[in-house]
Amino acid sequence: MRLFILFSFSALMLLEAYGFTDETDRKALLDFKSQVSEDRQDVLSSWNNSSPLCSWEGVTCGLNNKRVTRLELGGRQLRGMISPSIGNLSFLVSLNLSDNSIGGTIPHQVGNLFRLKYLNMSINNLGGELPVDLFNCSRLLALILFKNHLGGSVPSELGSLANLETLRLGFNNLRGMLPASLGNLTSLMRVGLSVNEIEGGLPDDLAKLTRLVYLELGMNRFSGVFPPSIYNFSLLEHLNMFSNGFSGSLKPDFGNLLPNLRELFMGGNSFTGPIPTTLSNISNLQLLGIEHNKMVGSISSSFGKLRNLQHMGLNSNSLGSYSSGDLQFLKAFTNCTQLHILNVNTNMLGGDLPTSVTNLSTNLQQLNLGINFISGTIPYDIGNLISLQKLRLDDNLLTGPPPSSIGKLSRLVLLNLTSNRMSGETPSSIGNITRLEQIYLSNNSFEGTLPPTLGQCKYLLYLSIGSNKLNGAIPQEIMQIQSLVHLNLSDNSLTGSLPKYIKPLERLCTLSVAHNKLSGQLPQVLGDCLSVENLYLQGNFFDGDIPNIKGLMGAKRLDFSNNNLSGSIPGYFANFSSLEYLNLSINNFEGKVPTEGKFQNATAVTVFGNKDLCGGIKELKLKPCIIVQAQPMETSHFSLWKKVSIGKAKEEPADQ
Ligand SMILES: *[C@@H]1O[C@H](CO)[C@@H](O)[C@H](O)[C@H]1NC(C)=O
Ligand SMILES: *[C@@H]1O[C@H](CO)[C@@H](O)[C@H](O)[C@H]1NC(C)=O
Ligand SMILES: *[C@@H]1O[C@H](CO)[C@@H](O)[C@H](O)[C@H]1NC(C)=O
Ligand SMILES: *[C@@H]1O[C@H](CO)[C@@H](O)[C@H](O)[C@H]1NC(C)=O
Ligand SMILES: *[C@@H]1O[C@H](CO)[C@@H](O)[C@H](O)[C@H]1NC(C)=O
Ligand SMILES: *[C@@H]1O[C@H](CO)[C@@H](O)[C@H](O)[C@H]1NC(C)=O
Ligand SMILES: *[C@@H]1O[C@H](CO)[C@@H](O)[C@H](O)[C@H]1NC(C)=O
Ligand SMILES: *[C@@H]1O[C@H](CO)[C@@H](O)[C@H](O)[C@H]1NC(C)=O
Ligand SMILES: *[C@@H]1O[C@H](CO)[C@@H](O)[C@H](O)[C@H]1NC(C)=O
Ligand SMILES: *[C@@H]1O[C@H](CO)[C@@H](O)[C@H](O)[C@H]1NC(C)=O
Ligand SMILES: *[C@@H]1O[C@H](CO)[C@@H](O)[C@H](O)[C@H]1NC(C)=O
Ligand SMILES: *[C@@H]1O[C@H](CO)[C@@H](O)[C@H](O)[C@H]1NC(C)=O
Repeated sequence: MRLFILFSFSALMLLEAYGFTDETDRKALLDFKSQVSEDRQDVLSSWNNSSPLCSWEGVTCGLNNKRVTRLELGGRQLRGMISPSIGNLSFLVSLNLSDNSIGGTIPHQVGNLFRLKYLNMSINNLGGELPVDLFNCSRLLALILFKNHLGGSVPSELGSLANLETLRLGFNNLRGMLPASLGNLTSLMRVGLSVNEIEGGLPDDLAKLTRLVYLELGMNRFSGVFPPSIYNFSLLEHLNMFSNGFSGSLKPDFGNLLPNLRELFMGGNSFTGPIPTTLSNISNLQLLGIEHNKMVGSISSSFGKLRNLQHMGLNSNSLGSYSSGDLQFLKAFTNCTQLHILNVNTNMLGGDLPTSVTNLSTNLQQLNLGINFISGTIPYDIGNLISLQKLRLDDNLLTGPPPSSIGKLSRLVLLNLTSNRMSGETPSSIGNITRLEQIYLSNNSFEGTLPPTLGQCKYLLYLSIGSNKLNGAIPQEIMQIQSLVHLNLSDNSLTGSLPKYIKPLERLCTLSVAHNKLSGQLPQVLGDCLSVENLYLQGNFFDGDIPNIKGLMGAKRLDFSNNNLSGSIPGYFANFSSLEYLNLSINNFEGKVPTEGKFQNATAVTVFGNKDLCGGIKELKLKPCIIVQAQPMETSHFSLWKKVSIGKAKEEPADQ
């Protein structure tokens, strides 16, 4: 007993001599508290001298010695800095300061925490470089620092964290090449380095990381061929190399070397050569993204074996051969019942659109075959794809009318059939799709009248049906879709006038009805469409005055040319500060062309082809205005016009 007491006593003396007491921890934590501030003011209030250390919020102590082993302060809206005294918590095993707004740097004293296994300071405002001392914490299993402002390079000392399983340094400003010593971390299972400025290739030594399951390299400056070391990661489930400078072709046995992949993001690089058909052996593959590369060859039907495939993005490559057979894979894909997204736009795919496209998964949400060389008609049963939200078949060689079953796609938000050779009437059933936000049908040969049912699409933002063969009047229903931002009906044969008695379209930014056969007066309601930036009315038979559109202060481009408009040119255009282009040419405007503001710029303003205009700046080459005597009954507008013109005549006699 005596001996025991003696021993305990001396052990305590020894510990105290080295500062190893819970009093050290208390001091260290109070010092930590003094350097952070809380937005919520309710977490660290329990850190006071009247309550025992081990009951402080976020603090966990060891069972025997009452020393702090865990500090759990994630997501507590903390600001300020990390006190260096954190390094005095020598029994700390787990340190979680993640998801706060802590700034400053990581104090190098963290390197004293030799028992530390878990460090999470992600989602803060930490700057500076990774302190080298940090890599003294040789028991670390997880080092998580993503979403900070850490700079410098990944130090080679990182290689001394021999037990590390998780390393997440993404979303920082790290530069330079990865050190070869990373290959020493053979326990690593998860590595996240996305969104930094890391360059070069992956060191060959990384081939030793055979336990890797998760590897994120996206959005850096990596370059060189597909890193050979990755082919050694046979357990890999998630690989993201998106948006880097990788090049070269992929090994033909890619899929056999990485058979456990679930998600493969390789988009935005410069990979060349064919897509390895062995990818079809990766039976758990859910996501395959090789978009925006330089891949060639065909899309293999064998990918139909990928029963778990949800997302396939092969857009913006050079796949296909402009010929029939290029779309054969669609038939095999009917077995991919989980498919949500299929993007193969912007390739060289040819041949007729097969009817098998209508047998794709009813879970399909996005089908994008745009910007290819696809011919034939849209199969009648396209309406089977009931989950579709986005359908893009634009910029192909499709003919015939869109089938009316398209109206069954009740979840459709975007329909793009622009730039094909489609004909017939625009199906009125489109109006049944009330969720539509974007309809693009321009540049085809659609004929007949515009279906008034389109007015039922009450969320419609973009409606573009320019460059077709439409005739008849513009249905009032369309001009009453309050959500419209962009309406393009130009280059058709539409007749009648613009609807007058409608509510102003307050969000409308672009209205183009240019090059039709529209007539009558421009409706006054135009002046209340206050968001208008672009107004294209040219090439019609509009007559009468320009209505009062003084309110369109944000207008950039206004084209009234080639109509029968008359009256005077509104002086307020001079003060439209964003105006880049005002075309009033070939009309019957008369009177004085203003000389101030925007009218001083002959590049922005065009007025030729009006018989009775005068004045303006020299470059417009108009005749001078004849100064008339003031009339007692004149309008104030007219009087202003005359004052200016008289003043002008005095200032610039050369004009006369
Ligand atoms: C932390 O330890 C250092 C060195 O042992 C000492 O100088 C410092 O005062 C300690 N900090 C606190 C807050 O106890
Ligand atoms: C000290 O902490 C205890 C326990 O959380 C709390 O009840 C008390 O209000 C705190 N005292 C002060 C002065 O904040
Ligand atoms: C760290 O804190 C975050 C945010 O509160 C939490 O999501 C995470 O699970 C914590 N980590 C550990 C190991 O407790
Ligand atoms: C680290 O913290 C972040 C943010 O709170 C959290 O999302 C993440 O899951 C944590 N990581 C680990 C491995 O605990
Ligand atoms: C980390 O280890 C190095 C080399 O052993 C040593 O010089 C340094 O003082 C250590 N840093 C800390 C904070 O313990
Ligand atoms: C760590 O990796 C480097 C470079 O690959 C190597 O030279 C060194 O011997 C390794 N150290 C250990 C402890 O394995
Ligand atoms: C990586 O894979 C290649 C080819 O399969 C093999 O020759 C090499 O030994 C592997 N490297 C390591 C470190 O396992
Ligand atoms: C892998 O794919 C290739 C080509 O698609 C095929 O010939 C081979 O039999 C497949 N291997 C396995 C193990 O399934
Ligand atoms: C789809 O799967 C069935 C059953 O496994 C199979 O018989 C058929 O050949 C497959 N179809 C295609 C087009 O691959
Ligand atoms: C619609 O198709 C045209 C022509 O290919 C393209 O330029 C445009 O970006 C597409 N827009 C959308 C939203 O799909
Ligand atoms: C569109 O809706 C109308 C009634 O609202 C219905 O009669 C018609 O069959 C529908 N068309 C399609 C293609 O769903
Ligand atoms: C004149 O208008 C043109 C076209 O909008 C523009 O590029 C140019 O900057 C303008 N010049 C001046 C002096 O404002």
